[in-house]
Amino acid sequence: MPPFFLYEKERKKLALLRLERIEKSFGAIRALSGVNLILEPGEVLGLAGDNGAGKSTLMKVLSGAIVPDKGRIFFEGQQVRFNSPRESRRLGIEMVYQDLSLCDTINVAKNLFLGREPVKKFLGLRFLNEIALHRQAKQILDNLSISVTSTRALVKTLSGGQRQAVAIGRTVLFNPKILIMDEPTAALAVKEVRKVLDLIRLLKTRGVAIILISHRLQDIMEVADRIMVMYEGEKVAERKAGETSLEELIRLIVRESSEKEGSSHDLT
Ligand SMILES: Nc1ncnc2c1ncn2[C@@H]1O[C@H](COP(=O)(O)OP(=O)(O)OP(=O)(O)O)[C@@H](O)[C@H]1O
Ligand SMILES: [Mg+2]
Repeated sequence: MPPFFLYEKERKKLALLRLERIEKSFGAIRALSGVNLILEPGEVLGLAGDNGAGKSTLMKVLSGAIVPDKGRIFFEGQQVRFNSPRESRRLGIEMVYQDLSLCDTINVAKNLFLGREPVKKFLGLRFLNEIALHRQAKQILDNLSISVTSTRALVKTLSGGQRQAVAIGRTVLFNPKILIMDEPTAALAVKEVRKVLDLIRLLKTRGVAIILISHRLQDIMEVADRIMVMYEGEKVAERKAGETSLEELIRLIVRESSEKEGSSHDLT
C-alpha cells in the first residue's frame, strides 16, 4: 500500500472527473460550499444526503445546467468549464433529471430521439422516417433489456419504471462516459426498482461511470462502489460501499455525531 499522499496523487491523476472546491449560492442560500468530488472510470458513485443538502445542485454544475460561483472541474485531466448542458454533453456527460424531462404527449420512440429522429429525403425535402425511427428505438430498448408494450405508446401511458427506463435509454444514444441519475428509483414499485438497478449494473459493465443520487440507501448500497454524503452544501463523508453500513450512512446523513469528519477521512 503506497503512502496516503502518493495514493491520493495517483487517484487524482487517474480520475475521469474531478471537482475541486465548488461553491454555489442562490441569493442568501449557500447551496454548495467547497465541495470536492472524484469519479474514477467505470465506477458507480452513490450520492446521499438529506433534502436540500445540495446533491442536485452539485450534479447540475456537472451537467452544465448551473455555473458555479467558484471552483474547478477537471475532465480526463484537463480543466474544463461548462456554461451549458450542451458543453458537458459534448464531453460525454449525460444527466437524467429528477423530473425526467420526458414529453408525456408523444410516443416512446420520439421521446428517445427528441429532435434527432432519423429522416428520409424526398424531392429535396426531409421527412421523418417512421419505420427507421421505430426500428432503431426498439433496438435501443432491447439492447438495454427495457420492455415497453410498443414504441408507439404515448409516454403518459407508461409506468414510473418504464418512464425512468426511457429517460435512461435516451441518454445512451449519446454514448455517455458519465451518466448522472437523480433519484431514479424514487416512487417506483419494488419490481421496477430492481429493473432500474439492473440497468445501472448493465451500463457499468459497458464502461459507463455513474453517479447515482438516491434517498433509498439500500439501492445505493446495492450498486455503488463508493458513497459520498453531503450535508447542508458540504461533503461530509466518503466511504467504500463494502466498508460502511446503512446505520452509519443514516448517522452521517442526519449528522447525529456532533463532530464533522476531518480531512484525513476525506478521500478527495
Ligand atoms: N434554483 C434555485 N434557486 C434558489 N435556491 C435553490 C435553487 N436550487 C436549489 N436551491 C436551494 O439550494 C439548496 C440545495 O438544493 P438541492 O436541490 O441541490 O438539494 P438536494 O440535495 O438535491 O435535495 P433533495 O433531496 O430534496 O432533492 C436548497 O436549500 C434549495 O432550496
Ligand atoms: Mg435533488
